[in-house]
Amino acid sequence: MCPLVSLRRTAIVLCAVAPIFFPWFAVSAQFANVSPTPPMGWNSWNHFGEKVNDADVRAAADAIVASGMRDAGYIYVNIDDTWEGKRDAQGNIHANSKFPDMKALADYVHSKGLKFGIYSAPGPKTCGGYEGSYGHEQQDANTYAKWGVDYLKYDLCSYESIMDMWDLNHPEKPVSVMEQDKALAMMQHAYSKMYQALLKTNRPIVYSLCQYGLGSVWQWGSQVGGNLWRTTDDIRDNYRSMSLIGFSQSGLEKFAGPGHWNDPDMLETGNGGMTPDQYRTQMSLWAILAAPLLAGNDLSKMDATTKSILMNKEVIAVDQDKLGIQGSRVAAPQIWIKPLTGGAKAVAIFNYVTDDEAEPTTLRLKDVGFSGPVHARDLWAHKDLGILHDSYTVTVPQGGVVMLRLWK
Ligand code: GLA
Repeated sequence: MCPLVSLRRTAIVLCAVAPIFFPWFAVSAQFANVSPTPPMGWNSWNHFGEKVNDADVRAAADAIVASGMRDAGYIYVNIDDTWEGKRDAQGNIHANSKFPDMKALADYVHSKGLKFGIYSAPGPKTCGGYEGSYGHEQQDANTYAKWGVDYLKYDLCSYESIMDMWDLNHPEKPVSVMEQDKALAMMQHAYSKMYQALLKTNRPIVYSLCQYGLGSVWQWGSQVGGNLWRTTDDIRDNYRSMSLIGFSQSGLEKFAGPGHWNDPDMLETGNGGMTPDQYRTQMSLWAILAAPLLAGNDLSKMDATTKSILMNKEVIAVDQDKLGIQGSRVAAPQIWIKPLTGGAKAVAIFNYVTDDEAEPTTLRLKDVGFSGPVHARDLWAHKDLGILHDSYTVTVPQGGVVMLRLWK
């Protein structure tokens, strides 16, 4: 049984629970096509946090077009937490003063050929303490549809206290298995409830579950309507956080596929806390994982390196490959592969140790399911490597990656 208690901000939860049944709803396939490949775009949280406002989002939309990111596939412009204002007498949610006219903002984003995303929570409050959707699910879904929302991130936060799973005053209090099962069922019901509300709007809306991997969400996320689900607690802009999250995704590959993706959280590229090699590691690993690619930096101030990482079209093509297969770790220490359309494979060789001298690493073709000869291309050097026979030896920079495409 996967422990469900007191996990917030304390642990990465990668464990299995018994199969779960959902008597209270029938999954509709209506929105199965909204994310045939992992969603790509931008989200305000990692850089702007609680300060984000209308002007920042417009600037992000402008920059995503001007930089070429839209044409590279980054389509969603998503506002995270802190847009929420008060409810009126009829219970309708309004944005706060940072967002004077949400419909006009959505129209602006749409006018650029982009899609518009928003954030809410199943509990009474969001993580930032703003108004959540508890008890107003259908009303909020209708409001989002009226505004022109195309993507909803739904963040557990205060719903945890409704599940009564942890007592802030007594975090050490043991919780019985029966209580855990009840809490899990409540959480699934809450996510399903918003999904049903979104369906009723008849507007296709990508549904992003954010509950940090609790209760092995990858086993049931698609059954409550999720197109993607966060698998861990929040990413931070440092190598330790990013690599712990990224490399811990091994084993989750069987739960992802077109329309339903594991989400190891957003990109940090361009935020300044990692080296270019480390940011290339995140981009490569996320692509191998078929993870959503949501940039989290200030798009209006990107240097050439940041652009070259976020807009490496050869790496993006790995992430967006139509087969939608999440890659896996196949050889020590960190050699990962992702099967691609037409029998090709993406191979990433990571040097995840940051404090040793980089030494040559040898990739043996048989470890990645090939017997030579194979064609090889280096996806960061943008260079054909010719034909490989048995192996390929390369020195991978510390904290960095060499990423190849191999094909017969
Ligand atoms: C949680 C989520 C983050 C972000 C913040 C906003 O921590 O995991 O991704 O949405 O809430 O308050």
